[in-house]
Amino acid sequence: MPFVLPPSLLETEDLALVLAFGKLSVLEACTVLGRSVQRAEAPSERVSVLHLDHPQVEAIAQLAGTHKCGPLTALLDSTSGDQGALIDLLVSYMEEKSNVSLSGYDIAEDDYEDLARSTLDGLRAKGLRKVRLLRPRGNELLSENVLKREAFDVIAFPYHNGLAMGPTVWVPDSASMRQRGTRRPAPHPDIALSPRLARTLVNLADLRPGQTILDPFCGSGTILVEAYGKSIRCLGLDNRASRVQEARENLRWSGGGVEDRGYDIRKGDARELARILRGTKVDAIVTEPLLLPRLDARPKTATAQGMIEQAAGVYNDALASMAGSIHPEGRIVIVVPAVQTMDGDEVTLTLDGRNLGLRLYQPGPVGFEYPVRLSFESTRWVRRAVYVFEPRS
Ligand SMILES: C[S@@+](CC[C@H](N)C(=O)[O-])C[C@H]1O[C@@H](n2cnc3c(N)ncnc32)[C@H](O)[C@@H]1O
Repeated sequence: MPFVLPPSLLETEDLALVLAFGKLSVLEACTVLGRSVQRAEAPSERVSVLHLDHPQVEAIAQLAGTHKCGPLTALLDSTSGDQGALIDLLVSYMEEKSNVSLSGYDIAEDDYEDLARSTLDGLRAKGLRKVRLLRPRGNELLSENVLKREAFDVIAFPYHNGLAMGPTVWVPDSASMRQRGTRRPAPHPDIALSPRLARTLVNLADLRPGQTILDPFCGSGTILVEAYGKSIRCLGLDNRASRVQEARENLRWSGGGVEDRGYDIRKGDARELARILRGTKVDAIVTEPLLLPRLDARPKTATAQGMIEQAAGVYNDALASMAGSIHPEGRIVIVVPAVQTMDGDEVTLTLDGRNLGLRLYQPGPVGFEYPVRLSFESTRWVRRAVYVFEPRS
């Protein structure tokens, strides 16, 4: 697990997360950290602060939709505020010739410059005279570079009319996530989502090893590969034989080339789950159908509405089929498209599970508005949004 500072620093009541997918990342964090989340604040689209009771470091390290996280260590009224606790913490881990970097999220350039300077001055005043300030491009040291130990990274963001800062303690293993996307035998970038997003969606299902997940529109199997990596049993369906073959190849590759009984990928129609599964129930369904024609430009609003209407039939039929195949304690995670139009509108496919005995999943005290839109990740003119349903008990 890629900790760049001791994991015990995450045993904090106020945890700052740099989000890969905006609100969806907050939903993942609230799911994975469960009852320990007392409150979640979103001071900007890029950062969330979670207020935790009994934080569990192992759970934090499962997060996929988070780029970085660390304890909130300095709260400043302005850039000249007291960074004492942050500086003391850094000094206890840095060496004479270490680098420090400041990653600023949604803060003004002038504030960034002032904070970078005061952090460096603070470290030098504590005797680390040869410490260098690494100036990352775009004022953000990417998590891959944090992992390479290029510098001790500090994040800073606007918070409660002032600024907040904290050291980056943990980043996900983004190199291996990227490899899973590019090195697998059937990468299929046209249709596949990123492994990072797939792992985030799988985490929303909150499954234990040995439980069963189904992706009824599995394509090349990206979601299943991520679930398989967590020792979850995988069922996949696709109505095209070539996709079934690709998903099998990718799963075999991800399991080290060994064909085993941990996955079962078949040709079939997502609208006929009761027949295909012969009435058995699965523990979770996680899927991204994205059944729209390829767009080369933003369509007119009326064209987008027509496309969404046409796709909605399959989504609704498939949702009804899924509702009948989910375990009473299970969850259905489904990605829907939100088309950006040339008129400046967004046309989103909406789903209603109430007549199917489904309710919208709301973890703990934080209320999420559905569908939960993803920030920073889209396919051409189509943005993604996510529904998470659970059977009404
Ligand atoms: C967007 S792709 C899924 C991509 C997948 N998440 C991946 O990582 O490769 C949607 C898939 O749904 C399949 N599909 C379309 N209609 C279907 C249906 N009624 N039943 C099952 N699969 C279907 C398509 O063949 C396509 O492979």
